[in-house]
Amino acid sequence: MNVVRRIAELRAARESLASPLGLVPTMGALHDGHLSLIRRAREECASVVVSLFVNPTQFGAHEDLGAYPRDLSRDLELAEQAGADLVWAPEVDEMYPPGFQTWVQLESLTKPLEGLHRPGHFRGVTTVVAKLFNAVQPQRAYFGQKDAQQAAVVRRMVVDLNFPLEIVVCPIVREADGVAMSSRNAYLNSDERRGAAVLFRALSAAAEAFAAGEREADGLRGVMARVLAEEPLARPQYISIADPESLQELEGQVERALLSLAVHFGNTRLIDNLIVG
Ligand code: PAJ
Repeated sequence: MNVVRRIAELRAARESLASPLGLVPTMGALHDGHLSLIRRAREECASVVVSLFVNPTQFGAHEDLGAYPRDLSRDLELAEQAGADLVWAPEVDEMYPPGFQTWVQLESLTKPLEGLHRPGHFRGVTTVVAKLFNAVQPQRAYFGQKDAQQAAVVRRMVVDLNFPLEIVVCPIVREADGVAMSSRNAYLNSDERRGAAVLFRALSAAAEAFAAGEREADGLRGVMARVLAEEPLARPQYISIADPESLQELEGQVERALLSLAVHFGNTRLIDNLIVG
């Protein structure tokens, strides 16, 4: 496996990689969720590039940029085992040179859910993802359903900006108790980690209610709220039943919906989601 830092080195190494090329963008601190994307890319593509970059512009002023877990040598080992041919770990000063002022920003899709509670987050995500796509020029790029809104936003950006590539969205990888794997789970103490299973319990309870015939958006939100209320350490930020494509909040009868939620445990903010219908 080849490891490069500068964009010029990446471009040179890119020349000898076979097509179709699959890109897996990550912020490092790799876990089985990330590795599932790399393995999927390995199965479907002739070559696989993994980017490792903790993108400062997608973190809010009071978020965890400084504390975000970083372990390059471990990440390189895991990426190689999962089948990466090339890892690109750029430096901040090359991704954001002095005087940087060009941003990619979507409109309505970034307004609700994560966008509402993390102002500027998606502007940072779409800008860096566009830069990763420009530099790597993949035929396919792999994203996780864990960040459902991010996947929808990136898909939209690819259509709107005519990027010649296919977005592949992969299922959420969970721990045995249902907790979605996340680099941020490392911030939880043992009580919070036990409590975190309530997110998937709430989603599953709403999915069961849906399967049993509950179609009212408010009824489904109520099921999730009641389950979350059973966990004293959980402080819900939003509980949403939204259209899976437009991400607009649904009212009344629903046929198909993205159930999603954001919950604080202490200073740690966790998100999770499930699609029904
Ligand atoms: P990061 O949080 O490192 O996640 C990288 C990719 O892994 C994302 O597509 C995310 O949805 C996916 N992922 C994370 N946890 C997962 C899980 N439990 N199951 C399946 N997939 C999972 O998302 C980002 O980085 C950044 O915003 C990025 C796209 C790299 C831009 O900076």
